[in-house]
Amino acid sequence: MSPNHRTDLVKIPGAPAIPGLAFRLFRDESDFPAMVAVIEGIREADQLELTVSVEDFAREFRHLEHSDPHEDFLFAEVRGDVVGYSETWWAKDPEGTYLYGHHVFLLPQWRGKGICEAMLRRSERRLSEISKANPKDSPRFLQSLVEETESDLASALERTGYTVYRYGLRLVRPDLENVPDLPFPEGVEVRPVKPEHYRAIIDAWNEACKDMRSQVPISDEMFAHWRESPTFDPSMWQITWHGDEVVGTVLNFVDAEDNERYNRRRGHPEMISVKRGWRRRGIARALLARSLKVLRERGMTEAALGVDAENPSGARHLYEGMGFRVVRRAVFYRRPMD
Ligand SMILES: CC(C)(COP(=O)(O)OP(=O)(O)OC[C@H]1O[C@@H](n2cnc3c(N)ncnc32)[C@H](O)[C@@H]1OP(=O)(O)O)[C@@H](O)C(=O)NCCC(=O)NCCS
Repeated sequence: MSPNHRTDLVKIPGAPAIPGLAFRLFRDESDFPAMVAVIEGIREADQLELTVSVEDFAREFRHLEHSDPHEDFLFAEVRGDVVGYSETWWAKDPEGTYLYGHHVFLLPQWRGKGICEAMLRRSERRLSEISKANPKDSPRFLQSLVEETESDLASALERTGYTVYRYGLRLVRPDLENVPDLPFPEGVEVRPVKPEHYRAIIDAWNEACKDMRSQVPISDEMFAHWRESPTFDPSMWQITWHGDEVVGTVLNFVDAEDNERYNRRRGHPEMISVKRGWRRRGIARALLARSLKVLRERGMTEAALGVDAENPSGARHLYEGMGFRVVRRAVFYRRPMD
């Protein structure tokens, strides 16, 4: 063990007395393969549907925001083998609420022994430290977004006082057939996206985030991260303009890695928004219909999107009316910070 490796050890009071168990901070990119292995190791037990690679972690770490790689990523090791890791970060939603986020990923064979609870305590301690630098007069919550199938983590959160803030639904349209041709209101048109439009498009989406529950807007760093990703393809985006004003957005993408792993051809119409004052005139429905056709032209055979189960604009009705059906549910757990 090198001297550096000794100083990155973290003591967690009350951690279980398991022979060889130790906690340490993130070191460098040589930790990425172990992080991928943890995700692979929990995929089946937690019925997770996601694909992550070393390159995905490398990209994520190049663009971390409100998260310090050497303080916010904690590893649990048993005799030097990584058995889990946790991460912490924070964000501010459009209403000014501070969200102190965290997640624990722990291999199934190491659950039920108190390791997850110890990592949760350390995440909360770290977030409490971070929160001292932020204003205290705004609402502050600890938050963990958990797939409903991650039942061990969900139980641990519930045991430690977290309650459901809201549910996030995943909806799928199982085919891309019978998509109607729908008109836009007079003077509203779709134009091909050019790089000089990115700012206006992201601003339009961020403005619409104010009408959603705790939807954190896309920061410059998040956008820079996405631009480096293979899923970034603005030629698929469907954007409506009225003069020089963006009035509707659907930012479509395809995740080829994910499609290959799950042997499907799924496209994602996401970041669906219509500017206030232009709503209830059929713009979102027409943009979604165009998006489904674009995805079909790209060889896709199904589409999936996410929505707040109680989206204040009634977006769920819009999607169900377009043939989407709920297939999964994720839970936003919260606990007040104090
Ligand atoms: C959700 C949103 C995109 C809908 O845009 P829109 O252009 O007004 O939607 P449409 O006019 O095409 O409406 C299509 C259908 O959606 C449903 N719908 C739209 N707004 C609704 C509302 N306020 N309440 C209930 N149902 C609604 C209706 O079924 C509607 O059909 P109808 O008008 O024939 O009854 C828009 O309200 C918005 O930008 N909201 C803020 C951002 C957001 O929540 N985006 C969704 C992210 S998942």
